Amino acid sequence: MTDLLPDQLTKWQNVENIIKEQLSRANVKEIRTPIVEMTELFVRGIGEGTDVVNKEMYTFLDRGERSCTLRPEGTASVARAVINNGNLKGTLNKLWYMGPMFRYERPQAGRQRQFHQLGVEYIGYESPNSDVKIISLAWDILQKLGISELILEINSLGDRTDRESYKISFLKWLKDNYDNLDQDSRERINKNPLRILDTKNPNTQKLLEYAPKLNQFLSERSLERYSFIKRQLEILKIPFIENLNLVRGLDYYSHTAFEFTSGALGSQATVCGGGRYDDLFDQMGGDKTPAIGFAIGLERLILIAGKRLEKSRDPDIYIVNKGQLAESLAIALSRKLSNFDLITELDLSGSSFSRQFKKANKSNAKSVVVIGDEEAKKKEFSIKLFNNSIETSNEVTISVEDNVKLEQWIQKNLNLNISAKK
Ligand code: HAM
Repeated sequence: MTDLLPDQLTKWQNVENIIKEQLSRANVKEIRTPIVEMTELFVRGIGEGTDVVNKEMYTFLDRGERSCTLRPEGTASVARAVINNGNLKGTLNKLWYMGPMFRYERPQAGRQRQFHQLGVEYIGYESPNSDVKIISLAWDILQKLGISELILEINSLGDRTDRESYKISFLKWLKDNYDNLDQDSRERINKNPLRILDTKNPNTQKLLEYAPKLNQFLSERSLERYSFIKRQLEILKIPFIENLNLVRGLDYYSHTAFEFTSGALGSQATVCGGGRYDDLFDQMGGDKTPAIGFAIGLERLILIAGKRLEKSRDPDIYIVNKGQLAESLAIALSRKLSNFDLITELDLSGSSFSRQFKKANKSNAKSVVVIGDEEAKKKEFSIKLFNNSIETSNEVTISVEDNVKLEQWIQKNLNLNISAKK
C-alpha cells in the first residue's frame, strides 16, 4: 500500500475532476458505500471460486465476532446499497463511486494492495443500447484523458442457461484433458470450471485453444443482442476486438463483458473492466434487476494519462511580510483573499525580504503583496505583478479597509472573472 504525495496528487485531482465533469454531464449521480462490508456479501456477489474471494480478500473478525472484509471492488456494495434502500425508490439509477479497494495480490508496477477505482453502474437498465452507452461512456472518459494505444476487447457470456449448457460440454472436455491441466485449474473443475478460462498459466491457455467455446452455446436471443451491440459500436466508430476468452475475474457477469487495455502500460495493462450483471441482484436476495457497469483502475489511469494533467495552478498572490505587526496584517489579508477564486500563498517564515522574494519567484506566483512594518502601521499594503522587473507601473498601495480598490486591482491585473463572496 502506498502513500500518495502532494506532487502526485495534482495529476490525480485533475484526472478526477475531468471524470466527474463527464459523469455529471451524463447525469450520473455519486454514491458512497462503506469500505468495510460483511464478508458474505463478496462471497455471494463475486463468487466463491474466484481468485478475489479465495485468495485476495482482507478479512477479519470484528469485536462482535462477525466476519468483515475490506471491499475488493464496488459493484457488490452498490447492489447491496440499492437493495437495502428499497431499490432507491424503484427508479432507474445511474451511479458512480470513487475510492480505495483492497486486494491481497502480489504488488508490482500497476498493481497495489490498496488501489483506487472509479466505478459507474447503470442499474435497472436492460436494453442493449444501455450496454452501448456504458461502453461509449468509458471510451469517452479514457479519450478525454489522452490515453494512448487504447484497445477495447469485448465478449458475450450469454445468460445463465447458455452458460449451463456450455458448462456440460466444457466439463467433459476438462475431464478428458485432466492430465494436461495445471494444479490450480484441476482444483477449479468441481468448484467453478468457467474460471479455468481465466487462467494465467500459459500452458493451460494454449490447451484451452482446443476447448469448446462459450460463443457456440449462446442462444439466438443472446447472439442477437450481442450482434446489435457490435453493430452500434461500429456506427459510433468505437473500435473493438472480439476476445472469445474474455470471461473477467468476477462471477456475476452475463452477456456483455469488456476490458480496455493500453499498450502504454506494462504487464498490468487493463485500465478498465466491466460488463452486464443481470443476475447479481436476485442472487443477493433483491428483486431481479438488470444492470451494467465498469470500473477504471485509477493508479493505472494516472500512469498513462496525458502529461498536461501534471500541472498544478500557480499561486495568484504571494504575500511577503516582515515584522510582527506586518504578519498580523498579512494573516487578515489572506483571510480576506480567501473569499475570491484565488490561490494565495502566505509566507510565514519570518525570513528576510530578499529570501521571501526568492521564494515568491520560485513559486511562480503571478503577483506579490508586500507588507513591512511601515505599511502595517498605516494599515496598508502594496501589490504588484511579479515579473522580475523593476518596472512597477502596476504597483499600488491599498488600505486594508479598501475592498473596492483591491477588487479592481485583482480584476484588472489577474485576469480573473472574480466575484467576491463577502
Ligand atoms: P475488475 O476488473 O476486477 O472489475 O477491476 C477493474 C479495474 O481495477 C481493473 O481493470 C484495474 O484497472 C483495476 N485494478 C484491479 N485490481 C487492481 C490492483 N490490485 N491494483 C491496481 N489496479 C487494480 C471490477 O472491480 C468490477 N467491479 C467492475 C465492474 C463495475 N463491473 C461492473 N460494474
